[in-house]
Amino acid sequence: MPMTTTAAQRFQALLSRGARMGPRAMPRSGPTIYKFGAGNPDPGSFPYQELVQAMADVMELDGAHALSYGSAHGYDGLRDLVVEKYRLLEGLQTSRDNILIANGSNQAIALVVGAFVDEGDPVICEAPTYMASIQTLRRHGADLIGIEVDGEGMRTDLVAERLGELKRSGRQCKLIYTIAQFQNPAGPTLSERRRRELVELAREHNVMILEDDAYGELRYEGQAPPSIFSLDPDGLVCRTGTLSKILGPGVRIGWVVAPPALVPYLSAFNFGGGVAPLTSRVCTFYLRAHLQPHVAELVDIYRAKRDAMLDELERGLADTDASWSRPEGGFFIWLKLPSRTDLQRLSQLAAAAGVGYNPGPIFMANGGGEEYIRLAYSFEAPAEIREGTRLLCRAIKGARTTA
Ligand SMILES: Cc1ncc(COP(=O)(O)O)c(C=O)c1O
Repeated sequence: MPMTTTAAQRFQALLSRGARMGPRAMPRSGPTIYKFGAGNPDPGSFPYQELVQAMADVMELDGAHALSYGSAHGYDGLRDLVVEKYRLLEGLQTSRDNILIANGSNQAIALVVGAFVDEGDPVICEAPTYMASIQTLRRHGADLIGIEVDGEGMRTDLVAERLGELKRSGRQCKLIYTIAQFQNPAGPTLSERRRRELVELAREHNVMILEDDAYGELRYEGQAPPSIFSLDPDGLVCRTGTLSKILGPGVRIGWVVAPPALVPYLSAFNFGGGVAPLTSRVCTFYLRAHLQPHVAELVDIYRAKRDAMLDELERGLADTDASWSRPEGGFFIWLKLPSRTDLQRLSQLAAAAGVGYNPGPIFMANGGGEEYIRLAYSFEAPAEIREGTRLLCRAIKGARTTA
């Protein structure tokens, strides 16, 4: 029976505070040819045939059990695989008891936020930061405090200042949310010195750190500093990870690495038969044999894409005062537009050329960011990246005002 307008509106008065912030805005961007907006992985990089085979093998080996409810903290085989991944790629020792499987790292982040953030709690994040996490934090009632990011990542001197101010005003900061590797969108990796400072600050002020590591495996050059999780002696760090960028986001598998005593608190926010038990089995089956060579292949694929975009930006904008990040990994370039860019004109010219991008303000928790755009080089092939970036540079130059 179709709902009447009145019936559709009656629920409005009953909505929670988080829901009253508004319904989910669906992306409205027109059809773009060069998709530099969302950070979608390249479907050509997904091991499609291998996963078809893995599905058949799992069904054969595990029989009808493969279709049963899963366990509360996730499929143990996958939890062990995550442990093995950290051991192999980072020499980090964890155990199955540290791992909680989630529906992508977005849900992993939401579980941590749900476990720590109450209405009105101050939460420190980077400015700019991942827009979905801004939403998650806000809808859980967080009072967001955005901290500037420079070439070494989040400015810990400013974090210290803010924590001091909060303490003086009698407020407890619950959480510091950081994307420590290849920060989305600004690109830097938090330096080891600052990681240690952050851990010290968390200890001094008794604050949880949420280390969102969605891209850590995709390092194209340079040496990774130790994870914040590995530097923490006090059980004050949760780290999230995902298969979205190294296998395919459609599998919807992510996880939290947390102190073992915290894991049951997080999973208590996620009743419902375990997350994706069948998909977990399939992914585990494939990754047990292929993790390292597959990641190595992805690193080559995405490095070439990043280089193609950087190269064309250099050619197209070197004679302007624009500047942009040169990330050592991940999917994004953060571009500071030339001064006197007419933003509306840029949006029109880029749309007419079929080039999509994300405007800076959507990544800011406390406003600002107008002079920036984020470009994702992950989805398109290098030839399209070159062509699209050439067109974008032309649009950027065309949008300069002469005043
Ligand atoms: C910084 C960051 N964190 C988390 C995610 C969540 O990804 P997923 O839920 O697919 O694991 C993304 C996805 O783009 C991201 O960029």
